[in-house]
Amino acid sequence: MSQETVASAAGQVVSVQGPVVDVRFPVGAGMPLLHEVVETCASDGRRLLLEVAEHLPGKVARCIALGSTLNLQYRAPAYPSGSPVSVPVGPEVFGRIVNAVGEPIDGLGKLDVSKRAPIRRDTSEIRINPDRLTGGEAHILVTGIKMIDLLYPLVTGSKTGIVGGAALGKSILTLELIHNVVERHKGVCVFTGAGERIREGNELYHEFVEQKIVDKVIMAFGQMNEPPGARYEIAFTGVTMAEEQQAQNKDVLFFIDNVFRFVQAGAEISTLLGRVPSETGYQPTLASEVSEFQERIRSTGAGSITAIEAVYVPADDLTDPAVVAIFSYLESVMVLSRERIQLGLYPAIDPMQSSSSHLEPAVVGRDHFDIAQEVLRVLSKYEELRRIVTVIGVEELSRSDRILYDRARRLQNFLTQPFFVAEAYTGRKGENVALEDTIAGCDRIISGRMDSVPEENFYLIGKVEQALEK
Ligand SMILES: Nc1ncnc2c1ncn2[C@@H]1O[C@H](COP(=O)(O)OP(=O)(O)OP(=O)(O)O)[C@@H](O)[C@H]1O
Ligand SMILES: [Mg+2]
Repeated sequence: MSQETVASAAGQVVSVQGPVVDVRFPVGAGMPLLHEVVETCASDGRRLLLEVAEHLPGKVARCIALGSTLNLQYRAPAYPSGSPVSVPVGPEVFGRIVNAVGEPIDGLGKLDVSKRAPIRRDTSEIRINPDRLTGGEAHILVTGIKMIDLLYPLVTGSKTGIVGGAALGKSILTLELIHNVVERHKGVCVFTGAGERIREGNELYHEFVEQKIVDKVIMAFGQMNEPPGARYEIAFTGVTMAEEQQAQNKDVLFFIDNVFRFVQAGAEISTLLGRVPSETGYQPTLASEVSEFQERIRSTGAGSITAIEAVYVPADDLTDPAVVAIFSYLESVMVLSRERIQLGLYPAIDPMQSSSSHLEPAVVGRDHFDIAQEVLRVLSKYEELRRIVTVIGVEELSRSDRILYDRARRLQNFLTQPFFVAEAYTGRKGENVALEDTIAGCDRIISGRMDSVPEENFYLIGKVEQALEK
């Protein structure tokens, strides 16, 4: 154990209940502050960091473990570090994977830390650059994904949510965005894995290596095998790294998969500490926890932070209080739907439930805006007609409705797309489509210039011209 971390008098572990550890301090000695890190050691010599969560009578600090408490023994000495969790943020973190407390977990050896930053800070202190507020420097990052570029443009400095229930393609869509955007992006990328599969972390790392972009990426992981303390703090670890980069004038792409797991970890901690849940079943501090995280993701001056957040929706219920709490911070929301998955429509973004505050003429330009509105109108009319068709059959539609119905089906197919990262699932090569081609394609379909081409020709293609080649 390093000498400088031994601040005030050592305490002793007096109880270990899963990830909750009580440390008693000697009479007359000081107590570590709330959120302070207390360092201890398991009997196998493994360093373990605890975070003070409560002060109990009898000079006991109730702590949440930030790592596994396996082999942590009764009466193990525990040393207050004098500071809250801090993580390395210097150039050494690029190309590396760290855990919630900033330790490397990629097996690539020690990190020579040149700079550290505490992961918690008061959001009210963050300086704001007025230029950023007016969106002066914001611009659109083209993703090459037709549906996103057309309807949910990715604007620098904004927050976008990829929202959906289990196995609807949130992670695949996140990966595809990384695949298409990071390479061309001039800034840096921070990926935060919160409470998801460990395997996905490995896949992501290899994706970065393959694309030769690993040098501009920082990865922080607190996955499902980790205790709730780590799955909770990882969100702050990730955002701290992003903040540091943007303070250095860099434009940061910040990805997190999955914000819901962060909320869930907070709920677990709350339960472990014996706090009474609110009537929704979540922790009483749900709103403030989500806010503490989301308010940190903002462009405060020098660079920008563009956030893409995957949000798991329990039981496909969009009214879940955790989902609602997260929603209110997102400027663009892409809701994935199970029905579209069943129809094989990838990406399964449901345009009727999704929205973007950036789909405005001032942001995307008049032509783009007009086509996007027309696409939404046709698709929404199609939803109405579809219900009618299931009852009376397609033959009974009026002539004009029938034309719209058929065009909408072509359009719906055209808005599907083979993904580079999903080649194994679709058996097709990924397609990157330029925004002009997306707009032109939608225009041709809506205006009827593609009426003679069978609708299945539009399924899983790139540019609209490919429908003619079949
Ligand atoms: N764009 C796509 N093209 C083809 N198949 C896809 C696509 N997106 C998702 N799938 C299929 O759906 C499965 C689940 O996708 P993914 O792991 O991204 O879902 P998820 O929403 O992240 O799920 P979870 O909530 O479990 O994390 C994939 O394994 C794949 O079979
Ligand atoms: Mg996933």
